[in-house]
Amino acid sequence: MPIQEKIQELLDKREKARLGGGEKRIESQHQKGKFTARERIDMLLDEGSFEEFDMFVSHRTVDFGLDKQTYLSDGVVTGYGTIDGRLVYVFSQDFTVFGGSLSEMYAQKICKVMDKAMKVGAPVIGINDSGGARIQEGVKSLGGYAEIFQRNILASGVVPQISAIFGPCAGGAVYSPALTDFTIMTKGKSYMFVTGPKVVKTVTGETVTDDELGGAMVHGSKSGVTHFVAEDEQEGILLIRKLLSYMPQNNLEDPPLAFCDDPIDRLEDSLNEIIPESPNKPYDVKDVIHAITDYHEFVEVQRHYAPNIVVGFARFNGISVGIVANQPNYLAGVLDINSSRKAGRFVRFCDAFNIPIVTLVDVPGFLPGTTQEYGGIILHGAKLLFAYGEATVPKITIILRKAYGGAYDVMGSKHLRGDINYAWPTAEVAVMGPRGAIEVLHNKEISEIQDEQERLQFINKKEEEYKRKFANPYVAAKYGFIDDVIEPRNTRFRIIRALQSLSTKKDVNPPKKHSNMPL
Ligand code: HXC
Repeated sequence: MPIQEKIQELLDKREKARLGGGEKRIESQHQKGKFTARERIDMLLDEGSFEEFDMFVSHRTVDFGLDKQTYLSDGVVTGYGTIDGRLVYVFSQDFTVFGGSLSEMYAQKICKVMDKAMKVGAPVIGINDSGGARIQEGVKSLGGYAEIFQRNILASGVVPQISAIFGPCAGGAVYSPALTDFTIMTKGKSYMFVTGPKVVKTVTGETVTDDELGGAMVHGSKSGVTHFVAEDEQEGILLIRKLLSYMPQNNLEDPPLAFCDDPIDRLEDSLNEIIPESPNKPYDVKDVIHAITDYHEFVEVQRHYAPNIVVGFARFNGISVGIVANQPNYLAGVLDINSSRKAGRFVRFCDAFNIPIVTLVDVPGFLPGTTQEYGGIILHGAKLLFAYGEATVPKITIILRKAYGGAYDVMGSKHLRGDINYAWPTAEVAVMGPRGAIEVLHNKEISEIQDEQERLQFINKKEEEYKRKFANPYVAAKYGFIDDVIEPRNTRFRIIRALQSLSTKKDVNPPKKHSNMPL
């Protein structure tokens, strides 16, 4: 064959591969308001940076007439490219080929990019849009999933892994995204469940739609399975690009330092006024976060889930940090099962990838009650405690108002290797809130006072005494548990100074195979 013909053959094959399952199915994908696998990669990566692998792979199954139905690429587009000039590996499932279902060869393609990413230390981004295991391939497909899971597990804590769910993701297929660091779903177009509505109806009798069972908002607000709910695919893809900008390429690197001309000594007078006079009045801790971060920017993670704790990424003078903050605006910022799990996982991600943790504390304690106790708040609360105690990255904690009881210990205290612990003058560090403390300490005396007015006066007097003695930052500061009491408006500057002083911090945990954290 003359060389020109050979080249033409190559070009024809490429063209065919690019069409995936064909024009009709591409059209149907567009009609559903979804982009194709290749369009998604184009949107995600820097223009012209994509290098594709395994375009000519096809399945090798002959059962069910599949020998007559082959597609180049076999339903998944894989390769590498750059995001803001930094290398990433990517796979994008192609719904137009067998509904994006996973075959043996398809799994091998994904495993290849994951192995390469691990060798060079670069993030892996997976875009999911699939009917699950390719039914015709049987156990070969199941094996393929497990090969991917194994790689997700080994890559965890070594390179960042991000999953976008832009269509169906059902059955065991859900476990690969669940093993990755961050999951993004799109409203109304994506769903994740272990068993679909039909099986649910048969087994439990419940009638439920795809969206009700496993839509983006369900996993964004109820289960916590997804970290981000995007309005559409474009928003989801922009979010992936942004998220990566806060992360290093792998666990041996530091996150990139961003340019910053937001003054480090910018005073935020509003913070001197932000804590209400009444200790029971809420305020929005996100106002504090936005006031102190570079350009007032904050990328919130799991915004709709357990809003009593706020977690996410920001920068201080270009230094990437993870912020964990109790949210007085929701359930008074109490720690419960969901907020402990949410923040515990976030702290561990930051620690794995050398991202310092800034903690803003205003917490009345752990949520009491049978629902919490039966649900295992002891174990779940211990997750957050464990995560903080295990973390060796720079840890800076600011107590804004309440730091009561066990929650004081948990929220990045000095005793859990907090590096720099500051408090605002409004801080109250105590075993419990004044009202609870007085009821325990003076229960007998209170019950003996018959006159209601007199009883109230007594309680108020004792509360005042307690507040003066304990509900301030100076007792903790006296013992060195607080390094300094700072003026709220200086918080940005003090955090930046602290981060700079800790840039060469080294801390280690004892050698071990792995910990046995309370899962
Ligand atoms: C082979 C599949 C397929 C699959 C879809 N297709 N899922 N082919 N194996 N799992 C094919 C369809 O036959 C169809 O082919 C094309 O993909 C598009 O599918 P439609 O049904 O027409 O699309 P839509 O109406 O949008 O519905 C999408 C869907 C549905 C909801 C995903 O296809 C579906 O329910 N599929 C089966 C899902 C499932 O039960 N998978 C197994 C889960 S268990 P044509 O030729 O007509 O275009 C599992 C175990 C993993 O995954 C375990 C890992 C440990």
